[in-house]
Amino acid sequence: MNTTTRDTKDETMTDLTDDRHRGPDFTGRVVVVTGGAQGIGFASAQIMGRGGASVAILDFDKDAADRAVAGLSARGARALALHADVTDQLSVKAAFDEVRTTFGDVDVLVNNAGVAGPNRPVWETPPDFMRSMFEVHVMGAYHCIVEAVPGMIEAGYGRIVNVASVAGKEGNAGGGAYSAAKAGLIGLTKSLGKELARKDVLANAVTPGMVTTGISTRSGVSEERNRQLTALIPMGRQAHPDELGQLIAFVASDRLTFTTGSVFDASGGRATY
Ligand SMILES: NC(=O)c1ccc[n+]([C@@H]2O[C@H](COP(=O)([O-])OP(=O)(O)OC[C@H]3O[C@@H](n4cnc5c(N)ncnc54)[C@H](O)[C@@H]3O)[C@@H](O)[C@H]2O)c1
Repeated sequence: MNTTTRDTKDETMTDLTDDRHRGPDFTGRVVVVTGGAQGIGFASAQIMGRGGASVAILDFDKDAADRAVAGLSARGARALALHADVTDQLSVKAAFDEVRTTFGDVDVLVNNAGVAGPNRPVWETPPDFMRSMFEVHVMGAYHCIVEAVPGMIEAGYGRIVNVASVAGKEGNAGGGAYSAAKAGLIGLTKSLGKELARKDVLANAVTPGMVTTGISTRSGVSEERNRQLTALIPMGRQAHPDELGQLIAFVASDRLTFTTGSVFDASGGRATY
């Protein structure tokens, strides 16, 4: 694959015959991808669906979730749309009850739902926005972990992938709330990994840099801000969602056996640790 020349504009590529969608075997696995209706989450859902997983797309964008499931089903994957908001514990519980009834216990949880926000310094960040970042990225992942982990422990198998950000490792000037929340998610991952280390339930984070998705538009991030953040990437470009999808699918698979509580970088060389 020539990643230097590939088109990074098509974010919803659904050609599952394409080699870029070939990933690990997920036969018999039940997968929940939060925020899986589009972008990075959808890319990973397609790869795991192609690998044989039953895929539940948990997203608060009902229309996008339904479209994603229609796309996955059309390609032969077993797929289910769960209309839920990760910040709402009861809504998450109802969604996991539905997936357990339809597919069975969850083997793989990808905590990917996320939003960004406008560029401003910490001291000018409204408290409601600060809280909302923690609600989505930390509490949202926590709510899903509470639902998924007991079944994984009982089954003696599980894979949890938390989609954090290079911002959580480095801190983006102008993105304090987002960076702090993603750092919180990384800390949560490290604790969880240690707690589950002897149960074949592995919990890891992936940290994208900039990925060409609709998140900026959906979160009100300016073009200028996008350019500034892209300029920080040594590879000189943003990632295609499939590049993250492949990494997430690997970390979510049984090919991963000796790594937990850890962080997989996908920032095009930006991360310094
Ligand atoms: N795109 C990037 O450059 C980039 C970089 C670093 C990290 N990330 C992280 O990757 C993850 C995926 O981002 P993306 O770029 O694919 O974004 P995206 O906007 O394309 O997809 C995010 C999805 O999450 C859903 N969502 C948001 N809040 C939700 C909630 N409370 N409950 C349920 N669903 C919710 C949205 O409806 C959307 O479908 C996010 O956590 C994001 O912070 C993205």
